[in-house]
Amino acid sequence: MPVELPGTVRPQGRLGFHPSKSGGSVKVLLSEDELAAGIARLASEISERYRELPLTVVGVLTGSIVLLADLIRMIEVPMRLGVLQARSYRGTTTHPGKLEVNPDLMPEVRNRHVLLVDDILDTGRTLSQLVIQMHDMGAMSVRTAVLLRKRGRQQAPLEPDFVGFEIPNEFVVGYGLDYNDYYRNLPYVAAMESADLEAAKT
Ligand code: XMP
Repeated sequence: MPVELPGTVRPQGRLGFHPSKSGGSVKVLLSEDELAAGIARLASEISERYRELPLTVVGVLTGSIVLLADLIRMIEVPMRLGVLQARSYRGTTTHPGKLEVNPDLMPEVRNRHVLLVDDILDTGRTLSQLVIQMHDMGAMSVRTAVLLRKRGRQQAPLEPDFVGFEIPNEFVVGYGLDYNDYYRNLPYVAAMESADLEAAKT
């Protein structure tokens, strides 16, 4: 579903800091209200799909934690929750980096109907490899849900089953998404200007 862009705004104070280090405006792509409405829709689609099936939600750390907290409280079917930690190593264009999954955090998925939940689908490599791993670990079925899907970036052939919002090809932060581990606590999703990406490095 295409996202209405509310335009460039200057978020005010309730977090006590301005997310733009360069002091410029921040482009809010998804406000708190828009996120809440999108997540309610996702939860209702998920509840409908798993009405007859016992559900195991598996969140991909760390970006999905804010989404997970809001989403699972609106899912209206019995469910279990697990998390996993995945890190992809940088590869070349022709040889994508390998995905390393922390085995200590892996939930039990054998004979379970698994819903993988991630913050954003970019190239699609992370989720497509995780789907294979869940099947290898004996999951009975594996579906995927993402809050955001970036337009024009996907390389891996994966069609997510549940998508919150489609967004333009911009680097986004907030609502769990980070830049250098900062900004996860912003209650909205904002696109970072290139000046801010530079400023945040310092
Ligand atoms: P792939 O390319 O495997 O990547 O679909 C998914 C992971 O890449 C990270 N990612 C982002 N993180 N803002 C972020 O904070 C972004 O715009 C962005 N694009 C990709 C994220 O960790 C995601 O799980």
